[in-house]
Amino acid sequence: MTIDEIMRLAPVIPVLIIEDEADAVPLGRALVAGGLPVLEVTLRTPAGLACIRRMAAEVEGAVVGAGTVTTRALRQAVADAGARFAVSPGLIEGEKADGPTPLLPGIATATELMAGFAAGFERFKLFPANVAGGMDAIKAFQSPFPDARFCPTGGVSMKNAPDYLALPNVACVGGTWIASVEAVRARDWDGVTARAREAAGLAKAQAAASR
Ligand code: 3PG
Repeated sequence: MTIDEIMRLAPVIPVLIIEDEADAVPLGRALVAGGLPVLEVTLRTPAGLACIRRMAAEVEGAVVGAGTVTTRALRQAVADAGARFAVSPGLIEGEKADGPTPLLPGIATATELMAGFAAGFERFKLFPANVAGGMDAIKAFQSPFPDARFCPTGGVSMKNAPDYLALPNVACVGGTWIASVEAVRARDWDGVTARAREAAGLAKAQAAASR
């Protein structure tokens, strides 16, 4: 699957910070049960890579990707672990769209967006969205960069996600609110599924509004 196809699978990509490898599979199952199949497992914990491996192998219906992929070596490592995509907070120096796994690089300015285009990317994470201009920035990018599509992440919540998703150049949003570190520590899988279901419903609400 291309990064564009992955971004269109669900309105929200949960950004996951998992401390204990044993939580990876139940967490993944809780999110898929709630209707969110696209999962970004960050490499911010020592367990990250092992979690990707376990989720990719054991969670049926999940499209498992890696987050916080900041180097070419990590892009290769997560691909080897079974990640179907990688997300980076910024552009990786010298890294092109073609590579071991589809990559969604972060950008925060027009200059970074243009550098991304030059490397073959057309899909970007706006990061940190709440600092990099949020909805106003995405609206402003529409006219000069009509081919770019975004996944704003950073400060996105159930409250502002519908407004982001209503923008024509937003494909999906990302965030930690569906499965926070605290919720994962508490193994609150029912709560995770409930928040996932609510977030998955944003797609339908958006479709209904556009009819
Ligand atoms: C990320 O890792 O992409 C962001 O830290 C997620 O931001 P949030 O915690 O505000 O959702």
